Amino acid sequence: MAAKFWRRLFARLPIARSTRAYAFGLQHVAPLPPGPVLDIGAGQGFGAAHLSRALAPRPVVSIDIELGCLKPAHQEAGPVPPRFVLASATDLPFAAESFALAAAVMTFHCLPQPQRVFREVYRALRPGGVFLVADVDGHHWMARPFEVVEHWFISPLTRAYTPEDLTALARAAGFAETQVYRRPNKARGFMQWFVARKAAPAS
Ligand SMILES: C[S@@+](CC[C@H](N)C(=O)[O-])C[C@H]1O[C@@H](n2cnc3c(N)ncnc32)[C@H](O)[C@@H]1O
Repeated sequence: MAAKFWRRLFARLPIARSTRAYAFGLQHVAPLPPGPVLDIGAGQGFGAAHLSRALAPRPVVSIDIELGCLKPAHQEAGPVPPRFVLASATDLPFAAESFALAAAVMTFHCLPQPQRVFREVYRALRPGGVFLVADVDGHHWMARPFEVVEHWFISPLTRAYTPEDLTALARAAGFAETQVYRRPNKARGFMQWFVARKAAPAS
């Protein structure tokens, strides 16, 4: 109950809008196969709105385990507004090979069963599709304080993963290629952008 309160409160703060993190991640996901986009962890919905503008006219589906505070973002959506679905990343209610891109921006650190999430995303992606994880780098000196604060106020599940952790999870799920990106001049930055690509069929 208390965790839900803090999560909702945090989601209303401007700092919870990770639009710039989505924008930087999108610079590194090409080429994408045709098809819709999955946003994992909608939060206030500003990320989904950004995806619907930046990748228009691809349809965007945004999932969250709690859809309590999405109204403001609807005004910022693209020509095809995102569809919001109550669902968990551990049990995606979508057919195999549905999406071209799945993005988990500032969300992966709070998900349960990370290996299961990678397997679910792998299943839901089309051949050549990409899983983008933008999140705190577990190597950064702020990662432990971040976890402690999150454990107090948001969720005991929070864990800041290292690029090596994410690479191991991606490989075990079947992803063929992985790459880590950081902002220019921030080789030791707080954030990492992890890109995993599902193998495309041989042409
Ligand atoms: C910090 S917010 C990030 C919101 C958005 N991606 C952004 O960057 O602006 C993390 C979101 O993940 C959601 N979440 C937590 N566990 C989840 C799960 N198992 N499946 C889907 N979403 C989940 C939370 O409810 C929260 O809204």
